[in-house]
Amino acid sequence: MDDWWRNAVVYQVYPRSFADGNGDGTGDLIGLRSKLGYLHRLGVDAIWLSPFFTSPLNDGGYDVSDYRDVDPRFGSLTDFDMMIKEAHGLGIRVIVDIVPNHTSSEHPWFKAGLRDRYIFRDQPNDWQSIFGGPAWTQVEDGSWYLHLFDPTQPDLDWTNPVVREEFRDILRFWLDRGVDGFRIDVAHGMIKEDGLPSINREGRQVELLGRERLPYFDQDGVHEIYREWRPILDSYGAIAVAEAWVESPQRLARYIGPDELHQAFNFDFMMASFDAASFREVIDSSLAAAEVVGAPTTWVLSNHDKFRHVTRYGSLAKARAATLLMLALPGSAYLYNGEELGLEEVLDLPDELREDPAFRRTGESRDGCRVPLPWSANGPDAWVNPWLPQPAHWASMTAQVQEDDPSSTLNFYREALKLRKGLGGDLHWLDAEPGVLRFRRGGHEVIINVDGGLVPLDGEVLISSAPLGTDRTLPPATAAWLAP
Ligand code: NOJ
Repeated sequence: MDDWWRNAVVYQVYPRSFADGNGDGTGDLIGLRSKLGYLHRLGVDAIWLSPFFTSPLNDGGYDVSDYRDVDPRFGSLTDFDMMIKEAHGLGIRVIVDIVPNHTSSEHPWFKAGLRDRYIFRDQPNDWQSIFGGPAWTQVEDGSWYLHLFDPTQPDLDWTNPVVREEFRDILRFWLDRGVDGFRIDVAHGMIKEDGLPSINREGRQVELLGRERLPYFDQDGVHEIYREWRPILDSYGAIAVAEAWVESPQRLARYIGPDELHQAFNFDFMMASFDAASFREVIDSSLAAAEVVGAPTTWVLSNHDKFRHVTRYGSLAKARAATLLMLALPGSAYLYNGEELGLEEVLDLPDELREDPAFRRTGESRDGCRVPLPWSANGPDAWVNPWLPQPAHWASMTAQVQEDDPSSTLNFYREALKLRKGLGGDLHWLDAEPGVLRFRRGGHEVIINVDGGLVPLDGEVLISSAPLGTDRTLPPATAAWLAP
């Protein structure tokens, strides 16, 4: 079996914001195709595409109305076929998103009133939507349907065998088109606790997410679904990665294994603050949990749902240091489009342009990490009227500007991905100064000076996330890899 995914670098493409091939201000598959050479040069092993399926785009495409077609704004199935063929030709694997917890309310099943495929009740309980407000909406006959997200995203009833068969068929549809795997949206959500018990707690339930078990998440029944999916995946040699927000690495590890999924996103790493103890703790607990199930862990610092890590940490220097740490860890790493350009969260988008459905209900918005990528200021790949406006100063951060600058973040990522191929073996911690983490992998030594004093370096420095200080010292907020 080809275990490419065990230490792959997977690049997340948010199709709407990645590259615009037809100049209408929305990214698309032709745009993505035109940038496959760029991704190949960057050195990624695979791309994961957020949804590009037919959708009203009420939740950026995580509200699917036809799981077997491409939304015309993103192109066509032919564009997809051409894109995947070219990606494979370059040795880049392709993972697509699958959204099984809910459909769009524009899905033919919901429109046709096929209630047994959704969760309808005479009375709502006290469950809240992740996007704020009640998780129930009433329809004309007085009954209510459950939506853990937006009201336009009704939850499917996975106790119905028709739903189960439909998704096995959707998997086969994309596998037949050549995809190498799936990222499973809300992988912890499809099964709800019997009887839909109330939670009876004050406050916002979303705050409990990942801290406590909720009756609508991480129920044992979800694992049965993955055991049904695994033989299908195996028959195509494909993989699946779970987006599961659960309360511990141990609970997360339950999604992984030879009869379930291959990987799960390790959000604990993404949520860790920029300090040595937090990094150390999350690395240790993630590795330990993964070891139990014999699968490598994954690492991620940014995605389309969270503030970009430059902004979370407060500086590009810290973001680059954390990236170099992440890329040195055993397992696979997920990158989010634009992080290789050092993009920050765009915080000052005008409210009226924000599209995140959560914004209207909670005031929190994920639009700032979804601003289209700056390719060039005036070239043929420059955006014309992008669906979200790019900050003026991004003109100096375009891929074109960074291309020939050896100190650019783009070239830093390229170099790190190239060198990463030489890293292997288990991680062994070494003693380190306060505020510093050091470990060995194979013959390499990896050091991150999070917030310590200047750290003298012994040996040949292969790469550092920022220039070294005088006398070859590693300044705070800097990481380096040393040659064997
Ligand atoms: C997780 C996705 O990453 C997010 O963007 C989406 O809003 C929810 N799932 C609902 O599908």
